[in-house]
Amino acid sequence: MAVIEIKNVAKTFGAYTALHDINLTIQDQEFMVLLGASGCGKTTLLRIIAGLETATTGEVWIGGRRVDHLPPKDRGIAMVFQNYAVFPHLTVFENIGFGLRMQKLPNDEVKRRVERTAGLMHIDQLLKRYSGELSGGQRQRVAVARALAMEPDVILMDEPLSNLDALLRMEMRAELKGVLAESNTTAIYVTHDQVEAMSMADRISVMHKGEIVQAATPLEVYRNPAAEFVAGFIGNPPMNFLPATPKGAGKWAVGGQVIDGPQKNKALNFAIRPEDLRLADSGLTARAKVVEPLGAHLLVTCDIDGALFRAVLDSDMTVKPGDTLTLAPQPDRVRWFDPDTTRAVA
Ligand SMILES: Nc1ncnc2c1ncn2[C@@H]1O[C@H](COP(=O)(O)OP(=O)(O)O)[C@@H](O)[C@H]1O
Ligand SMILES: [Mg+2]
Repeated sequence: MAVIEIKNVAKTFGAYTALHDINLTIQDQEFMVLLGASGCGKTTLLRIIAGLETATTGEVWIGGRRVDHLPPKDRGIAMVFQNYAVFPHLTVFENIGFGLRMQKLPNDEVKRRVERTAGLMHIDQLLKRYSGELSGGQRQRVAVARALAMEPDVILMDEPLSNLDALLRMEMRAELKGVLAESNTTAIYVTHDQVEAMSMADRISVMHKGEIVQAATPLEVYRNPAAEFVAGFIGNPPMNFLPATPKGAGKWAVGGQVIDGPQKNKALNFAIRPEDLRLADSGLTARAKVVEPLGAHLLVTCDIDGALFRAVLDSDMTVKPGDTLTLAPQPDRVRWFDPDTTRAVA
């Protein structure tokens, strides 16, 4: 059992606060992704869990045991980094078995574990090769196999696929997800790539400026973003926003139209995903500016009262720049945010 609990963890570097009061519980065998832009504190949080960095305040618990005063080797974790960190002058076998030798496991146990994890990562044909001769993708497989060979309770991965090209990344992410689902390992996976996060995670923790803004399943984060930041960060293109003025009794003026919304009496921001719009007789009045055929869809960038607004439409629609479009939002997909707190109100 390796539940990970992060309790009130903060981290400052001099006058700079990299993490503010982080609270997060990762369930046993869960695959948790920390997602956020560069500099938001993902690596710092991962390193604190690993014990490579000390929190300024707060506690880290793994498997019901407080570990923040323990050295990394006593925490039951293994790590995989972006830059592989495999030793080029060692063979693949020696690299994968490195941590096991450090633990002074008997030779036959080392051999058993190296062969098993090399098989899982499809590098069993490479065991005698020197790691320096391998491609980036093969080296990253070695790094993952080395971590798995430790049979850790927890595996921590920091952008492990970012140095690979797009096709290999897609292949590896499916493979990694499969291998980890079959192990009993709790995983924390850091990435700035939302597609990777959406496709791999059981839950995503969206981070922004040293805080976790929302921790939820990929679908929940996508459909019901808890804050404007999440709505504007997830999705490609992200959610559209328009200012909304209350007209009383749950009616709102948005983009030249009156629509139903929450019972509130202050200005809110209306938000809708580009794919949750369709051309209709009544709806938001938009002026098409740029039309991009993307094969499966048509991406139309519009202007609504001076605000940028995007719609993803069927690819067989004929839309030209300059056209006036009437875009109907799918009612159950509309979100409303309070501009003062930036949090969702409905
Ligand atoms: N050792 C350090 N000394 C000073 N500042 C640091 C140190 N490590 C990280 N930071 C700062 O903390 C912030 C978060 O960094 P990091 O956790 O690496 O972000 P991410 O992994 O999300 O890109 C950044 O602004 C970074 O410059
Ligand atoms: Mg980082």
